[in-house]
Amino acid sequence: MPNLPLEMERLHRMAADCGIVRIGTAGIRQLRRLVDRIEAETGLQFIRMEMGIPGLPSPDAAVQGEIQALQQGVGAVYPPFEGIAALKTEIARFIQRYTDVTIAPPNCFPTLGAMQGCYLGMALAARRYADKTRILFIDPGFPVNKLQARSLGLTYTTFDLADYRENKLASKLESVLAAGDYAAIVYANPSNPAWLCLSATELEIIGAAAHRHDLVVIEDLAYFGMDFRTDYRQPGKPPFVPTVAHHADHYLLIISSSKIFSLAGQRIGMLAISDSLARARHAHLKRFYPSDVFSEALAYGGLYAIGAGVSHSAQFGLLALLQNINRGRYDFLETVRIYAQRAARLKTIFRANGFQLVYDRDGERRLADGFYFTVAYPGMAGSDLVTALMRFGISAIALDATGSARQGVRACVSQIAESDFDIIAERLAHFQRVFG
Ligand SMILES: Cc1ncc(COP(=O)(O)O)c(C=O)c1O
Repeated sequence: MPNLPLEMERLHRMAADCGIVRIGTAGIRQLRRLVDRIEAETGLQFIRMEMGIPGLPSPDAAVQGEIQALQQGVGAVYPPFEGIAALKTEIARFIQRYTDVTIAPPNCFPTLGAMQGCYLGMALAARRYADKTRILFIDPGFPVNKLQARSLGLTYTTFDLADYRENKLASKLESVLAAGDYAAIVYANPSNPAWLCLSATELEIIGAAAHRHDLVVIEDLAYFGMDFRTDYRQPGKPPFVPTVAHHADHYLLIISSSKIFSLAGQRIGMLAISDSLARARHAHLKRFYPSDVFSEALAYGGLYAIGAGVSHSAQFGLLALLQNINRGRYDFLETVRIYAQRAARLKTIFRANGFQLVYDRDGERRLADGFYFTVAYPGMAGSDLVTALMRFGISAIALDATGSARQGVRACVSQIAESDFDIIAERLAHFQRVFG
């Protein structure tokens, strides 16, 4: 176990060995490699807050469902790439029970994580018209979505939601969208990294703007229902998980299973297309896909062409899980609530040691506690803070890469164990003594 803080020179040498030029701006996977390297070389055990890996086991129903399906031989058979019929029905039922929105089962698809849903959603939205190929990202956001837009040859614009809350959002959207070449608005709710949650008014504003400008709203619900300020635990009963679906005609709901169901390794997510968008016809789609009907283009030209669907056993695993959830036999939100408890404790520890929260309000409301939170240290740029924390055995990522203009880092709570809280408090107190 080395003395802390780690010497800068030593840290930089290990970073260089991992091919990293600037630690503060390294990507998540590069940082992971560096942390592994430091741990192996020095014996220092890191508090790992850089990557959003679920910290809970996969639910038993999903595991058993998958095992049984494999034992029954599904592994030898190609899965239906648009999803097995029973799964499509349960996805529609899940959406109905938790959001009070009706989407026909044929328009609900399993995807290779939310990642594939967002990728296909942007591709399809931007191929409806020859001259509408720009994406509007409401930031701060998940950097991979921008990577996807770039790889699809799409341009994009972003702004920071925190600067345009409530009615300010309407005028901001209007001024941006007036350019006329936008295909889609993309955002996550709650958001990664800031954990901002859009209000009903804001969702209504987004829906109305999308309608006016003929855009597709791509709503990424990777952290579905995880705004724990409101109790969404009762399927089929209000309050329902907020969604733009109540306010828009043309939308895609993207629901990841990675965090809410701790199934990140199975690469299965859910994509639901609003019924009116599913049947919309756009002649331009035919340039890329075998059909001009949105849902057919997505299924036969998108899901089929990219990977031909989600693995058969993962579909059965998700099916078994959703059957339990939809019938009130498994409370997934109660299971993941632990993340909020961890975040609340960690925020208190960080603040007690001179740190400040970067994003801490949803308009008038205190921000929810959840999977991530954002912190800054006075006078320190986000990328410098990443390096400084690393010297104390704490890893996090800078906000710069997420479209945030604010200085600070994103901390993910998922890997924090009960025994870590005292260690973090000790290391942060030491940090404050060193940096003043
Ligand atoms: C906002 C957001 N969308 C999508 C994803 C990826 O989800 P999946 O693992 O289902 O592809 C993440 C993962 O961190 C995320 O934060």
